[in-house]
Amino acid sequence: MTDRRSPWWQDAVIYQIYIRSFADSNGDGIGDLEGVRTRLGYLKKLGIDAVWFTPWYKSPIADGGYDVEDYREIHEDFGTLEQAEALIREAGELGIRTIVDIVPNHVSERHPWFRAALASRPGSPERARFWFRSGRGPRGDERPNSWDSIFQGEAWSRTTDEDGRPGEWYLHLFATEQPDLNWNHPDVRAEHEAIIRFWFDRGAAGIRVDSAALLVKAPDLPDIPVHIAAGEHPYEDRDDVHDIYRSWRKVADTYPGDRALIGEVWVPDPSRLPLYVRPGEFHSAFNFDFMSQPWDAEAMSTSIQSTLDAFDAVGAPSTWVLSNHDVTRPVTRYGREDTGFAFARKRFGISTDLELGRSRARAAALIVGALPGSLYIYQGDELGLPEAEDLPPSVLQDPMYFRSAGVDPGRDGCRVPLPWSGSHPPFGFGPKGSSPWLPQPTEWASLTVDAQEPDPASTLNLYRRMIRVRGETSLRGKPLKWDQSFGAGVVAFTRGAEFLCVANMAGAAVPLPESHRVILASSDVVGTSLPGNTAAWLIA
Ligand code: GLC
Ligand code: CA
Repeated sequence: MTDRRSPWWQDAVIYQIYIRSFADSNGDGIGDLEGVRTRLGYLKKLGIDAVWFTPWYKSPIADGGYDVEDYREIHEDFGTLEQAEALIREAGELGIRTIVDIVPNHVSERHPWFRAALASRPGSPERARFWFRSGRGPRGDERPNSWDSIFQGEAWSRTTDEDGRPGEWYLHLFATEQPDLNWNHPDVRAEHEAIIRFWFDRGAAGIRVDSAALLVKAPDLPDIPVHIAAGEHPYEDRDDVHDIYRSWRKVADTYPGDRALIGEVWVPDPSRLPLYVRPGEFHSAFNFDFMSQPWDAEAMSTSIQSTLDAFDAVGAPSTWVLSNHDVTRPVTRYGREDTGFAFARKRFGISTDLELGRSRARAAALIVGALPGSLYIYQGDELGLPEAEDLPPSVLQDPMYFRSAGVDPGRDGCRVPLPWSGSHPPFGFGPKGSSPWLPQPTEWASLTVDAQEPDPASTLNLYRRMIRVRGETSLRGKPLKWDQSFGAGVVAFTRGAEFLCVANMAGAAVPLPESHRVILASSDVVGTSLPGNTAAWLIA
């Protein structure tokens, strides 16, 4: 592949494929590799530089595939390893790089190591690769420490011994089906370096590292202290975790062609995020601070500036993310009274103005598209899909829903299969008559790719133009400078002498400068004024 820009990951547009829900080639209701292959043309036309596949490995899918049974096998519902290799090649020929998702914090309970651990005695070498402990209390029936699962409930489950009696407990920061690995164990380290090589050898251009801040635990597994100094949480963001990524970086650097490591790093203290992208560690890391901001000019610009400062300080490019497979779709989130994102605030039945939300999500796309750094687009955001909020409870699968006893709707609503064509489900996601693994709302008829294709004002065409103009305008290397002349309620910045991005976050229209002409806008700009909840790109 010839390189227009190098290294590519500094300002790439990366499209996240949630493979189960992208396109189903054989009608079993589940998206697959062949479905992606037949839509490479769509991705090419969208103009993206790379795709990131959420886990496509063999897995019981207890947590959407983030419970991996075999990191070197493709899930049979998705296809085969040969197909994955061919897809990486074929995408590469179109100039689209592939990023795979590695889950190092935990494995599936069906992973051979965990099965071996369960079949072995307490204290055995097989159990040492995980965190097995005796319970507390006289009968050992209380969890070994106070840790809760990130999916709610306890972070410990008790095992049953061969004789049927209750045995040791094991740690799982996520679902019961996802036992945490012990990263102090040399096997764990060696195995993951081998897994990374395996995928780099197959042409992966990058690796997204799941739950990257959680791998290292305080060896004595203390209760969570009330006051915690930075780096001293018993499992979040501990200093030693960086040793792991320094060794991975060495592996990545042995490969030609700018292979990238991208960390999924949620840290309680955002000032610690840059530590993960220091020289010799990850190439980049997701920026969830910006993604969590409410629809508010000051909050957004503050987050943008602090992100740029933090990443600049270590010489790493920033990243911009509006959503992913874990969070509420922007069209829905921005249409609510509380427009920020926090897992703890997810509930059923929050009232939402989707039209308002869609205007804002379109404007937000132009904000992130104009910022320095790389841009992540979650599949379906380019169609302006809302969160599917009325999925019948019987189809829900996400452990977040079950572990919250049904209080948290979970993440299924942002994972509904894409609508491609036609006027009723499966909307071309699969062959006629097939039933997608999650039902699609019938209102999505107006949001299919085919429906949006001929409409110049559609969200799909806005995204296509945004990505094209972003490439043509050569914003690279041009720093962001705030333009304060628009007053409160507006996010405005220049990149270089000519390019100006103005986002009107408030309700009332604001005048645009006559020195500039609009080259792209998220909704109709009449004359020289920019309506509320609208963003525009201008050229001097
Ligand atoms: C990450 C993934 C999420 C998954 C979790 C556990 O946060 O994005 O989908 O549930 O890790 O692997
Ligand atoms: Ca299928």
